[in-house]
This record gives sequence, structure tokens and C-alpha cells, in this order.
Amino acid sequence: MKRPTTEYISRFKKWQDTAVVKIKDHPTLIDFEKGLDFYSREQSILLKHPKVFNLPEEEIQKLLVYELYNYLEFTVWLELGPVNEVCNLIRMPSFLPWLSSEMKDDALKIYVDEGAHAEMAFALISKIEEHTDIKSMRLEPKFIKELDELILSQPKELEQMIKIFFVIISETLITGTLTGLPHDKTVQKGIREFALDHATDEGKHHAYFKNFFEILWPKMPKDFQAKIGALLPKMILAFLYPDAHELEQILLKFFTVKESSEIINDLLSSENVIEGVRKSILPTKRMLKKCNLFEIEEIEHSFNSHKLMKV
Ligand SMILES: [Fe+2]
Ligand SMILES: [Fe+2]
Repeated sequence: MKRPTTEYISRFKKWQDTAVVKIKDHPTLIDFEKGLDFYSREQSILLKHPKVFNLPEEEIQKLLVYELYNYLEFTVWLELGPVNEVCNLIRMPSFLPWLSSEMKDDALKIYVDEGAHAEMAFALISKIEEHTDIKSMRLEPKFIKELDELILSQPKELEQMIKIFFVIISETLITGTLTGLPHDKTVQKGIREFALDHATDEGKHHAYFKNFFEILWPKMPKDFQAKIGALLPKMILAFLYPDAHELEQILLKFFTVKESSEIINDLLSSENVIEGVRKSILPTKRMLKKCNLFEIEEIEHSFNSHKLMKV
């Protein structure tokens, strides 16, 4: 059986020569081409509904711009919010002082990567707003509120660990946008490149947080493991489950209130939604399995009751 590694292997030794922030052009320098979309039709949740799919072509293109904005705004909130809060925490000498200095130094590099991703996403929004004359609704993604609610529902001493595990989850799973968007040739080249560059950095972050988890988990007391582990499904769903409010705000630009809520209900009642979540968390689940999390009854039960166990 392959054992989880308890040693840290840095993927940031050549960071100066590989990080997007160090070597890539800023998105404000890109040009847009006629005939290409601003977001992937295949990745669009809304286009899965026949009523949306049958909108006139011009409206669909507009809808895709809004979906892209939501993805980019989500990136800004995530990177500057929990991810960088946790990177800063890991960097502090007093926090988990037994972590290697190399690991602490790399957390600072991730912080810089994420800051750049957020800034580039923001700059891209401004650039597209200018080009299309469609304004971003600047919506706050639901995971911010859901993470706060989860923290408030638990004893205070769990707060830091909830944030850390939320980041471990979000940095180790693989979303369709990260893998699908860069390869969709119907999408503007500049947007695909932004997504690909982001995915390249995220590959290193993925390895870092997996390594971090494998070092941290065995050091946690058993009762703490059970408590945090049982909260993982809620964190996963806060992060991955479609944001009904955001989607509805987009639909309201094209449909009546009644139609919009019917479309949302249809889309979210489909089994495909939870199936999509389960698919995205496969790498994270493999990591959890390697550390025997599902042998802890509370954790296995929680994954089952949130319909996240079935593959
Ligand atoms: Fe990122
Ligand atoms: Fe990241």
C-alpha cells in the first residue's frame, strides 16, 4: 500500500522562472477576436436548460459574458479571501511551528501567485466590460457566506482549522473550468490563456496542499479529526454546488422572475449537479482515502449523507 508522504517536497524551487506573475503578459494586453465566445458553452450550467439554449444567438453570447464574470469574480473572492488568509497563517513562524521553513516560505510564494490571479481576473473583467459594454454585476459568491455560517455554527477553537481545510479542499479538487476552459477553441484566446496559466500555477498549489494535508492530518488529535472531517462535505458543497442566486441574477437579464426561478429549479433538481460535484472531488477524495479518513465513522457517515460517497 502506498503510504502518504510525511516529508515536504517543494515544487517552487524554480518559482522565479515559472510563476505566471513572473513570466506572463498581463491580460490587459490581450485582444479579442470576432466570432469567438467569452465563456465555454460546454462549461455553462445555464445553457444545459432548453429554454436558455433556445435564446437568440446574440443573447447567448451576452449570457456567456455574465457567466465568465461570475467565474472571474469568484476567483477574486477566493484568492484574496480564504486562500490568502490561510497562506499568510501558514507563513507565520508561530503557527504550526514544526512545519519546515521551506514549506512556510512556499506559502508566501502561493500568496503572491494568488494575489496575481485575483488581480489578473479583475483586470480581465474591466477589459471585457470596456470591450462589450456589458457590466459585471459584481456578485459576492455564496461560499463566502456559507463558510462564515459554518464557522459560526461550530465552537470557536475550530475556526482556523475550518478555514485551513476549506482551502485544502478548494486547492486540491479540479473544476471543469480549470481543465475545460483552456481547451475550448470556441472561446477567446486571451481568456483561454488566462485559464491555462492559472491552471499551471494551480497544479503546483494542488501538490503543495496535498503534501500539507498529509503532514498535518496524522498530527491532529483523533476527536479533532472526526469533527473537522465530518464538516468536509459542507465545505465541498459551499465551494462547488452551483450558486442559485448568482445564476438567477443572470437569468433575470433574459427572462421573467417566474421563468428564471423555474429554470433554476429544473437545473438544480437534476442528479447531474451532485454527480458533477462528485466528479470534481475525485482527486481530493483519493487524498482523504490515503490518510484513511473514511475509516472514521463520523466522516464516512457525513460524506454518505451529503451524497458525496458514490462514485
Ligand atoms: Fe489561484
Ligand atoms: Fe491556488
